[in-house]
Amino acid sequence: MPFKVVATRILPPDAQARLEAENYDLVQWKEDNVMPRDELLKQVNGADALICLLTDRIDSELLDVAGPQLKTVITMSVGFDHVDVDALRKRSIPLGYTPDVLTDAVADLTVLLTLAAARRMKEGMNAASQGEWGSWRPTWLCGSQFTGKTLGIIGMGRIGEAVAQRLKPFGISRTLYWGRREKPEVQERLPGAQFKAQLDDVLAESDYVIVCCALTPETKEMFNYEAFKKMKKCAVFVNTARGSIVQQDDLTRALEENLIASAGLDVTSPEPLDPSHKLYQLPNCVILPHIASATFETRERMASMCLENLQAALNNQTMPYSL
Ligand code: DGY
Repeated sequence: MPFKVVATRILPPDAQARLEAENYDLVQWKEDNVMPRDELLKQVNGADALICLLTDRIDSELLDVAGPQLKTVITMSVGFDHVDVDALRKRSIPLGYTPDVLTDAVADLTVLLTLAAARRMKEGMNAASQGEWGSWRPTWLCGSQFTGKTLGIIGMGRIGEAVAQRLKPFGISRTLYWGRREKPEVQERLPGAQFKAQLDDVLAESDYVIVCCALTPETKEMFNYEAFKKMKKCAVFVNTARGSIVQQDDLTRALEENLIASAGLDVTSPEPLDPSHKLYQLPNCVILPHIASATFETRERMASMCLENLQAALNNQTMPYSL
């Protein structure tokens, strides 16, 4: 009997071809949108493996419906806040994920958003296309630069470090970071980076505050009105991690009241963010639709890691990329 593999989405082309070439009983949602929960619950029953995305909620209900033969859940993402890890542990089901490979793509886009928010790119593009581009003006659309500024990284993991490394050559003079623990190994690679045990110190001293941490019960909505109030008025706030780390109404208010200068977001809560949301109207808020890891190379590699995990799990081996 071939293994039953459920995949909640079509994979990037090379990985998809490899998956189809395997002798699996493959059940796959073929549309480029979220597999409806009902359908997923129906199909996952009897599955040996589940390949999912960050848009699929993996919880006790789903695992119970799947049944005790389920050997693995593999998410094509580095974040796994959509997965009830305890529920998997209780059933001794390993979780596969895709760490490291998307670090460069996410860090690149984080820099892009930081620059875009700092240099008022949205206002500039709108002005140019809407006939507001008059003669050159000395103070028009001025933003802030990096030279001599302080960078605050929230969550100095792989992505946080890659962002800090990229921004250093732009002239950042001081890098502060906050997280669960001090990371001497990072400080060796990033001389001068300073751990702050108090988040408030990073908020008060940084010109750029960049969120790169995981969404956990501790970080959920940690960026609320109080937090924005502690930041510099010239601060640029960037989030490419998870939308729920930010209290979005509070961010909206902070931007409206100019508590901070601008924001760059690749993640929101919910996703997609409704086009009528106020944040889109704000000139000082640049929003992208969760595309930080969206490069051809990275998405293929992520999918390929999922397939390596799949093969290992179905052969009762330890998955190479797992928790
Ligand atoms: C992830 O993999 O968790 C990212 O958010 C995708 O961009």
